[in-house]
Amino acid sequence: MTASQQTTLVLGGTGRTGALVAQGLAARGFGARTAARRGAGVVFDWDDPTTYAAALAGIDRVYLVTPVARAKFAGPVADFLDLAAAGGVRHVTYLSTYGSDLAPPEVDIRAVELELARRKGFTHSILRPAWVMQNFADAHLPLIDGAITVPTGGGAEAFVDAADIAAVVVETLANPDAHAGAIYALTGPQALTVAEVAATIAETVGRPVAHHDIDPDVWINGAVAAGFISADYAVMLRWLTGTIIAGNGSRPNDDVERVIGRPATGFAEFARRSAAAWALRAAG
Ligand SMILES: NC(=O)c1ccc[n+]([C@@H]2O[C@H](COP(=O)([O-])OP(=O)(O)OC[C@H]3O[C@@H](n4cnc5c(N)ncnc54)[C@H](OP(=O)(O)O)[C@@H]3O)[C@@H](O)[C@H]2O)c1
Repeated sequence: MTASQQTTLVLGGTGRTGALVAQGLAARGFGARTAARRGAGVVFDWDDPTTYAAALAGIDRVYLVTPVARAKFAGPVADFLDLAAAGGVRHVTYLSTYGSDLAPPEVDIRAVELELARRKGFTHSILRPAWVMQNFADAHLPLIDGAITVPTGGGAEAFVDAADIAAVVVETLANPDAHAGAIYALTGPQALTVAEVAATIAETVGRPVAHHDIDPDVWINGAVAAGFISADYAVMLRWLTGTIIAGNGSRPNDDVERVIGRPATGFAEFARRSAAAWALRAAG
Protein backbone atom coordinates (compact mmCIF):
# COMPACT_ATOMS: atom_id res chain seq x y z
CA MET A 1 0.00 0.00 0.00
CA THR A 2 1.39 3.43 -0.88
CA ALA A 3 1.02 6.40 1.46
CA SER A 4 -1.77 7.90 -0.67
CA GLN A 5 -3.82 4.68 -0.38
CA GLN A 6 -3.74 4.81 3.42
CA THR A 7 -6.43 6.91 5.01
CA THR A 8 -6.59 7.99 8.63
CA LEU A 9 -9.86 8.93 10.30
CA VAL A 10 -9.00 12.02 12.36
CA LEU A 11 -11.56 12.33 15.15
CA GLY A 12 -11.78 15.78 16.73
CA GLY A 13 -10.70 16.81 13.23
CA THR A 14 -11.53 20.49 13.73
CA GLY A 15 -9.87 20.63 17.16
CA ARG A 16 -6.52 21.90 18.31
CA THR A 17 -4.59 18.70 17.63
CA GLY A 18 -6.89 17.06 15.04
CA ALA A 19 -6.72 19.90 12.52
CA LEU A 20 -2.90 19.87 12.68
CA VAL A 21 -2.78 16.07 12.47
CA ALA A 22 -4.82 16.16 9.24
CA GLN A 23 -2.49 18.82 7.79
CA GLY A 24 0.59 16.89 8.86
CA LEU A 25 -0.62 13.64 7.33
CA ALA A 26 -1.52 15.37 4.06
CA ALA A 27 1.91 17.04 3.94
CA ARG A 28 3.47 13.57 4.06
CA GLY A 29 1.21 12.20 1.32
CA PHE A 30 -1.19 10.29 3.58
CA GLY A 31 -4.93 10.49 3.21
CA ALA A 32 -6.79 12.07 6.15
CA ARG A 33 -10.54 12.29 6.76
CA THR A 34 -11.46 14.77 9.46
CA ALA A 35 -14.50 14.00 11.60
CA ALA A 36 -16.53 16.14 14.03
CA ARG A 37 -20.14 17.14 14.66
CA ARG A 38 -19.78 20.13 12.36
CA GLY A 39 -17.30 21.65 9.92
CA ALA A 40 -15.23 18.51 9.22
CA GLY A 41 -14.91 16.19 6.21
CA VAL A 42 -17.46 13.79 7.68
CA VAL A 43 -20.14 14.22 10.33
CA PHE A 44 -19.28 12.19 13.42
CA ASP A 45 -21.04 12.38 16.76
CA TRP A 46 -20.09 10.16 19.69
CA ASP A 47 -23.72 10.43 20.83
CA ASP A 48 -25.03 9.14 17.49
CA PRO A 49 -23.67 5.64 16.72
CA THR A 50 -25.29 5.75 13.26
CA THR A 51 -22.48 8.16 12.24
CA TYR A 52 -19.68 5.68 13.05
CA ALA A 53 -19.86 3.37 9.99
CA ALA A 54 -19.72 6.05 7.30
CA ALA A 55 -16.81 7.75 9.07
CA LEU A 56 -14.90 4.44 9.16
CA ALA A 57 -15.57 3.36 5.53
CA GLY A 58 -12.26 2.75 3.74
CA ILE A 59 -10.19 3.75 6.79
CA ASP A 60 -7.10 1.86 7.94
CA ARG A 61 -5.82 4.11 10.80
CA VAL A 62 -7.59 6.17 13.42
CA TYR A 63 -6.62 9.17 15.55
CA LEU A 64 -8.89 8.53 18.54
CA VAL A 65 -10.11 11.67 20.33
CA THR A 66 -12.83 10.77 22.81
CA PRO A 67 -15.80 13.04 23.69
CA VAL A 68 -14.46 16.29 25.04
CA ALA A 69 -15.21 17.57 28.59
CA ARG A 70 -16.95 14.36 29.66
CA ALA A 71 -15.93 11.63 32.08
CA LYS A 72 -17.98 8.70 30.79
CA PHE A 73 -17.37 7.40 27.27
CA ALA A 74 -15.88 3.87 27.45
CA GLY A 75 -19.09 2.21 26.17
CA PRO A 76 -19.44 4.17 22.90
CA VAL A 77 -15.68 3.96 22.32
CA ALA A 78 -15.79 0.14 22.65
CA ASP A 79 -18.66 0.01 20.12
CA PHE A 80 -16.70 2.25 17.78
CA LEU A 81 -13.57 0.08 18.11
CA ASP A 82 -15.64 -3.03 17.31
CA LEU A 83 -16.65 -1.43 14.02
CA ALA A 84 -13.11 -0.22 13.37
CA ALA A 85 -11.69 -3.73 13.86
CA ALA A 86 -14.40 -5.31 11.68
CA GLY A 87 -13.65 -2.76 8.95
CA GLY A 88 -9.93 -3.57 8.81
CA VAL A 89 -8.38 -0.73 10.79
CA ARG A 90 -4.75 -1.65 11.54
CA HIS A 91 -3.64 1.06 13.98
CA VAL A 92 -5.23 3.45 16.50
CA THR A 93 -3.40 6.36 18.15
CA TYR A 94 -5.26 7.50 21.28
CA LEU A 95 -5.12 10.99 22.80
CA SER A 96 -5.22 10.27 26.53
CA THR A 97 -4.05 12.52 29.37
CA TYR A 98 -0.90 12.81 31.46
CA GLY A 99 -1.06 10.61 34.55
CA SER A 100 -4.15 8.74 33.28
CA ASP A 101 -3.05 5.66 35.21
CA LEU A 102 -3.66 7.69 38.42
CA ALA A 103 -7.05 9.12 37.37
CA PRO A 104 -10.11 8.55 39.57
CA PRO A 105 -12.09 5.43 38.61
CA GLU A 106 -15.13 7.53 37.62
CA VAL A 107 -13.28 8.83 34.55
CA ASP A 108 -12.95 6.60 31.52
CA ILE A 109 -9.59 7.71 30.06
CA ARG A 110 -7.80 4.75 31.67
CA ALA A 111 -10.62 2.35 30.70
CA VAL A 112 -10.08 3.23 27.03
CA GLU A 113 -6.32 2.62 27.35
CA LEU A 114 -7.02 -0.81 28.82
CA GLU A 115 -9.61 -1.52 26.12
CA LEU A 116 -7.00 -0.80 23.44
CA ALA A 117 -4.41 -3.00 25.16
CA ARG A 118 -6.92 -5.87 25.29
CA ARG A 119 -7.62 -5.82 21.56
CA LYS A 120 -5.60 -7.93 19.12
CA GLY A 121 -7.17 -6.85 15.78
CA PHE A 122 -5.06 -3.71 15.46
CA THR A 123 -2.01 -2.10 17.05
CA HIS A 124 -2.20 1.08 19.10
CA SER A 125 -0.16 3.94 20.54
CA ILE A 126 -1.17 5.93 23.61
CA LEU A 127 -0.28 9.60 24.01
CA ARG A 128 -0.57 11.16 27.46
CA PRO A 129 0.01 14.89 27.08
CA ALA A 130 0.41 17.45 29.83
CA TRP A 131 -1.91 20.47 29.80
CA VAL A 132 -1.61 22.10 26.40
CA MET A 133 -0.17 25.61 26.03
CA GLN A 134 -3.08 26.53 23.76
CA ASN A 135 -5.39 26.57 26.83
CA PHE A 136 -3.96 30.02 27.58
CA ALA A 137 -4.60 31.43 24.09
CA ASP A 138 -8.17 30.19 23.55
CA ALA A 139 -11.41 29.94 25.49
CA HIS A 140 -10.14 27.34 28.00
CA LEU A 141 -8.09 29.68 30.22
CA PRO A 142 -8.72 33.12 28.72
CA LEU A 143 -6.91 36.27 29.72
CA ILE A 144 -9.66 38.49 31.17
CA ASP A 145 -9.02 41.92 32.70
CA GLY A 146 -5.30 41.18 32.87
CA ALA A 147 -5.67 37.88 34.76
CA ILE A 148 -5.62 34.14 34.11
CA THR A 149 -8.10 32.52 36.48
CA VAL A 150 -7.35 28.90 37.37
CA PRO A 151 -6.90 27.02 40.67
CA THR A 152 -3.36 25.67 40.44
CA GLY A 153 -1.83 27.19 43.60
CA GLY A 154 1.93 27.40 43.32
CA GLY A 155 2.16 24.07 41.51
CA ALA A 156 3.94 23.67 38.18
CA GLU A 157 3.04 21.88 34.95
CA ALA A 158 5.19 21.05 31.91
CA PHE A 159 2.74 22.61 29.43
CA VAL A 160 3.06 21.15 25.92
CA ASP A 161 2.41 22.70 22.51
CA ALA A 162 -0.55 21.08 20.67
CA ALA A 163 1.57 21.30 17.51
CA ASP A 164 4.14 18.99 19.14
CA ILE A 165 1.39 16.56 20.13
CA ALA A 166 0.11 16.61 16.53
CA ALA A 167 3.61 15.98 15.17
CA VAL A 168 3.94 12.92 17.43
CA VAL A 169 0.48 11.70 16.36
CA VAL A 170 1.46 11.97 12.69
CA GLU A 171 4.67 10.03 13.32
CA THR A 172 2.81 7.17 15.04
CA LEU A 173 0.25 6.98 12.24
CA ALA A 174 2.87 7.16 9.48
CA ASN A 175 4.98 4.40 11.08
CA PRO A 176 2.59 2.29 13.17
CA ASP A 177 4.94 -0.69 13.44
CA ALA A 178 7.63 1.48 15.06
CA HIS A 179 5.15 2.78 17.67
CA ALA A 180 2.94 -0.25 18.29
CA GLY A 181 2.24 -0.57 22.02
CA ALA A 182 4.12 2.65 22.83
CA ILE A 183 2.99 5.03 25.56
CA TYR A 184 4.36 8.58 25.31
CA ALA A 185 3.93 11.16 28.07
CA LEU A 186 4.18 14.37 26.04
CA THR A 187 5.46 17.48 27.83
CA GLY A 188 7.05 20.80 27.10
CA PRO A 189 10.68 21.47 28.05
CA GLN A 190 9.98 23.27 31.36
CA ALA A 191 7.62 22.89 34.32
CA LEU A 192 6.06 26.33 34.90
CA THR A 193 3.66 27.71 37.48
CA VAL A 194 0.73 29.70 36.09
CA ALA A 195 2.34 32.80 37.64
CA GLU A 196 5.41 32.10 35.48
CA VAL A 197 3.18 31.59 32.43
CA ALA A 198 1.50 34.93 33.22
CA ALA A 199 4.90 36.64 33.44
CA THR A 200 5.92 35.24 30.04
CA ILE A 201 2.66 36.39 28.45
CA ALA A 202 3.09 39.81 30.09
CA GLU A 203 6.56 40.14 28.59
CA THR A 204 5.26 39.09 25.18
CA VAL A 205 2.28 41.47 25.06
CA GLY A 206 3.91 44.33 26.98
CA ARG A 207 1.33 44.74 29.75
CA PRO A 208 0.78 43.24 33.21
CA VAL A 209 -0.75 39.76 33.46
CA ALA A 210 -1.54 38.10 36.81
CA HIS A 211 -2.46 34.62 37.95
CA HIS A 212 -5.77 34.66 39.85
CA ASP A 213 -5.60 31.50 41.97
CA ILE A 214 -9.32 31.01 42.54
CA ASP A 215 -10.87 28.55 45.02
CA PRO A 216 -11.24 25.22 43.12
CA ASP A 217 -14.87 24.66 44.15
CA VAL A 218 -15.90 28.15 43.04
CA TRP A 219 -14.16 27.68 39.67
CA ILE A 220 -15.47 24.18 38.96
CA ASN A 221 -19.04 24.84 40.16
CA GLY A 222 -19.07 28.02 38.08
CA ALA A 223 -17.97 26.11 34.96
CA VAL A 224 -20.76 23.54 35.48
CA ALA A 225 -23.37 26.25 36.19
CA ALA A 226 -22.34 28.13 33.03
CA GLY A 227 -22.72 24.95 30.97
CA PHE A 228 -19.00 24.87 29.97
CA ILE A 229 -18.58 21.36 31.36
CA SER A 230 -20.88 18.50 32.33
CA ALA A 231 -21.40 17.73 36.02
CA ASP A 232 -19.61 14.37 35.66
CA TYR A 233 -16.56 16.10 34.15
CA ALA A 234 -16.20 18.11 37.37
CA VAL A 235 -14.53 15.00 38.86
CA MET A 236 -11.91 15.09 36.13
CA LEU A 237 -11.32 18.82 36.46
CA ARG A 238 -10.95 18.52 40.23
CA TRP A 239 -8.35 15.79 39.71
CA LEU A 240 -6.47 17.72 36.99
CA THR A 241 -6.20 20.91 39.05
CA GLY A 242 -5.76 19.10 42.39
CA THR A 243 -2.76 17.24 40.99
CA ILE A 244 -1.02 20.53 40.16
CA ILE A 245 -1.99 22.20 43.46
CA ALA A 246 -0.48 19.21 45.30
CA GLY A 247 2.82 19.71 43.48
CA ASN A 248 2.39 16.56 41.39
CA GLY A 249 1.98 18.21 37.98
CA SER A 250 3.74 16.83 34.91
CA ARG A 251 7.53 17.02 34.74
CA PRO A 252 9.52 17.55 31.51
CA ASN A 253 10.79 14.49 29.67
CA ASP A 254 12.20 13.87 26.19
CA ASP A 255 9.35 11.81 24.70
CA VAL A 256 8.50 14.49 22.11
CA GLU A 257 12.12 14.67 20.94
CA ARG A 258 12.50 10.88 20.92
CA VAL A 259 9.57 10.55 18.50
CA ILE A 260 9.93 13.60 16.22
CA GLY A 261 13.67 14.20 16.43
CA ARG A 262 13.58 17.82 17.65
CA PRO A 263 13.11 19.30 21.12
CA ALA A 264 9.66 20.21 22.41
CA THR A 265 8.59 23.84 21.95
CA GLY A 266 9.15 26.15 24.92
CA PHE A 267 6.45 28.41 26.36
CA ALA A 268 8.20 31.65 25.34
CA GLU A 269 8.24 30.55 21.69
CA PHE A 270 4.57 29.53 21.91
CA ALA A 271 3.74 32.93 23.46
CA ARG A 272 5.49 34.81 20.64
CA ARG A 273 3.50 32.79 18.09
CA SER A 274 0.22 33.41 19.96
CA ALA A 275 0.64 37.12 20.78
CA ALA A 276 -2.12 38.08 18.34
CA ALA A 277 -4.70 36.06 20.32
CA TRP A 278 -3.98 38.04 23.51
CA ALA A 279 -3.86 41.35 21.59
CA LEU A 280 -7.31 40.57 20.17
CA ARG A 281 -8.67 39.88 23.64
CA ALA A 282 -7.32 43.20 24.88
CA ALA A 283 -8.88 44.96 21.90
CA GLY A 284 -12.23 43.12 22.26
N1 LIG B 1 -6.74 20.77 27.21
C1 LIG B 1 -5.67 20.11 27.66
O1 LIG B 1 -4.80 20.71 28.29
C2 LIG B 1 -5.52 18.63 27.41
C3 LIG B 1 -4.40 17.96 27.89
C4 LIG B 1 -4.27 16.59 27.68
C5 LIG B 1 -5.26 15.92 26.96
N2 LIG B 1 -6.36 16.60 26.50
C6 LIG B 1 -7.38 15.87 25.79
O2 LIG B 1 -7.45 16.36 24.46
C7 LIG B 1 -8.73 16.03 23.95
C8 LIG B 1 -9.22 17.18 23.10
O3 LIG B 1 -8.37 17.27 21.97
P1 LIG B 1 -8.09 18.64 21.23
O4 LIG B 1 -7.60 19.64 22.25
O5 LIG B 1 -7.26 18.37 20.05
O6 LIG B 1 -9.56 19.04 20.75
P2 LIG B 1 -10.37 20.36 21.00
O7 LIG B 1 -9.64 21.54 20.45
O8 LIG B 1 -10.85 20.36 22.42
O9 LIG B 1 -11.61 20.11 20.03
C9 LIG B 1 -12.51 19.04 20.24
C10 LIG B 1 -12.77 18.33 18.90
O10 LIG B 1 -13.64 17.21 19.17
C11 LIG B 1 -14.89 17.42 18.47
N3 LIG B 1 -15.93 16.92 19.37
C12 LIG B 1 -16.27 17.42 20.59
N4 LIG B 1 -17.29 16.71 21.10
C13 LIG B 1 -17.60 15.75 20.18
C14 LIG B 1 -18.59 14.72 20.13
N5 LIG B 1 -19.48 14.55 21.13
N6 LIG B 1 -18.64 13.90 19.05
C15 LIG B 1 -17.75 14.09 18.04
N7 LIG B 1 -16.78 15.04 18.03
C16 LIG B 1 -16.74 15.88 19.09
C17 LIG B 1 -14.95 18.93 18.22
O11 LIG B 1 -15.77 19.27 17.11
P3 LIG B 1 -17.37 19.46 17.27
O12 LIG B 1 -17.59 20.22 18.56
O13 LIG B 1 -17.82 20.20 16.04
O14 LIG B 1 -17.94 18.07 17.31
C18 LIG B 1 -13.49 19.23 17.90
O15 LIG B 1 -13.15 18.82 16.60
C19 LIG B 1 -9.63 15.70 25.16
O16 LIG B 1 -9.87 14.31 25.17
C20 LIG B 1 -8.78 16.09 26.34
O17 LIG B 1 -9.02 15.26 27.46
C21 LIG B 1 -6.49 17.94 26.70
